[in-house]
Amino acid sequence: MVKNSSNTSFQEITTHLLSSGFIYQGSEIYGGLANSWDYGPLGVLLKNHLIDIWIKKFVRSIDYNVLIDPAIIMNPNVWKATGHIDNFNDPLVDCKKCHCRYRADELIKNQVKDIEVEGKSNDELHDLLIKHNIKCPNCGSSNFTDIKKFQMMFKTFLGVTEDTSSTVYLRPETAQGCFVNFKNVMRTTRRKLPIGICDIGKAFRNEITPGNFTFRTREFTQMELEFFFKPGEDKKWFNFYKEYCMNFVNEIGLKKENIRFRDHSKKELAFYSKGTTDIEYKFPTLGWGELMGIASRGSYDLERHQKSSGEDLNYLDPETNTKYIPHVVEPSFGLDRLILALLCDSYKVEELENDSRIVLALDYRIAPYQVAVMPLSTKLTDAAKKIFDNIKEYYDAIFDTTGSIGKRYRREDAIGTPLCITYDFDSENDNKVTVRNRDSMEQERVNIENLNEYIHSKIFK
Ligand code: GAP
Repeated sequence: MVKNSSNTSFQEITTHLLSSGFIYQGSEIYGGLANSWDYGPLGVLLKNHLIDIWIKKFVRSIDYNVLIDPAIIMNPNVWKATGHIDNFNDPLVDCKKCHCRYRADELIKNQVKDIEVEGKSNDELHDLLIKHNIKCPNCGSSNFTDIKKFQMMFKTFLGVTEDTSSTVYLRPETAQGCFVNFKNVMRTTRRKLPIGICDIGKAFRNEITPGNFTFRTREFTQMELEFFFKPGEDKKWFNFYKEYCMNFVNEIGLKKENIRFRDHSKKELAFYSKGTTDIEYKFPTLGWGELMGIASRGSYDLERHQKSSGEDLNYLDPETNTKYIPHVVEPSFGLDRLILALLCDSYKVEELENDSRIVLALDYRIAPYQVAVMPLSTKLTDAAKKIFDNIKEYYDAIFDTTGSIGKRYRREDAIGTPLCITYDFDSENDNKVTVRNRDSMEQERVNIENLNEYIHSKIFK
């Protein structure tokens, strides 16, 4: 019998991730900070592997695309121009009895089956609260305040004074760094359209109801691509990136039955978007949730920045000698959600003959460690260490000397290490080691001098 993401609770998986060193509660020794999480040693390795794979797929494999790294704190006029200061808000409602605060749309969605709340105005949400007799999850009262707009951008102050003239914001999306650098990138790379500007970094949103572990947090990492092209090619590039992103989530190992597209209805579209399709993942217990979005942003952002900054952001098309503002398609991944989905998807508990084992069946390239090296006995530590020192030059590897070999295998299965290499007493004579495969649990003897080639052929199979 195998337990996997389809018959395991979300809580069982997050408990495993917390106890094994993928993720820690943020500021834990101070009692934590609501919904803040830190990546531990395993989480960081996995995160960096995923970033590398995203860069390979979205930057290196598409000749049009480049990667930049813009600042988190930007000129506040950026956010006035884009409309984030006026429009980037959530519907906040307070319970009049216990003063708990909620996002009105989420509150309704959680209590009324199959209800559509996306894109509803505050008045419409207020009517739904009353119509469905929505209750405060904390005290059970149905007495709520009017719904207010809650600005989701975090404010801070630049320099030594704390007044409105020095107010700045932590970016709520990394995308704007790409838009404001469009002219710089065109000038310095001397490229023609189409061009894709990619970036990876932290974004911040003062979510009213963060939760579900790292699914919705106030600080998260985005991997975004703003792809600029000639107006009229919108459909072509939108469809291209829809398929490209779906291929990506398949290639990194998410099971087909747990992934789907979902088109946004007109009412639900973000204020900058002409059309958006999400890729959703079916999380255990939680159900379908957004993993990433592909948005057709038209000329919205560049038009706004041109108007607000006074800079000419037109592109002079060398083929037609005409000027125009390019249009944009944006595939936007949330790295933390992708990590969470991969960890849920790969988690399984297998019943063996006299035992059971937890396995994270992660893609070999993404697993925190690709290889574990183990001496069978402490007497063999020095010889095994030499092998480890060689391997760690090329792969993320771990050296494990404690406990029985069986226990060490189980530990590595539970964190997803695909290959375990054991140096035993025979190795002294035949110059071979035993390589044990995480998934099949099969073992084979491999020549030490061929080890790096062997590992490469397994990891990048
Ligand atoms: N630039 C477009 C943009 O930011 P979005 O749909 O708001 O679009 C893109 O965000 C992705 O960022 C989402 O699909 C999700 O993966 C991730 N994301 C958004 N808000 C998040 C949050 N509060 N916590 C974790 N990830 C989040």
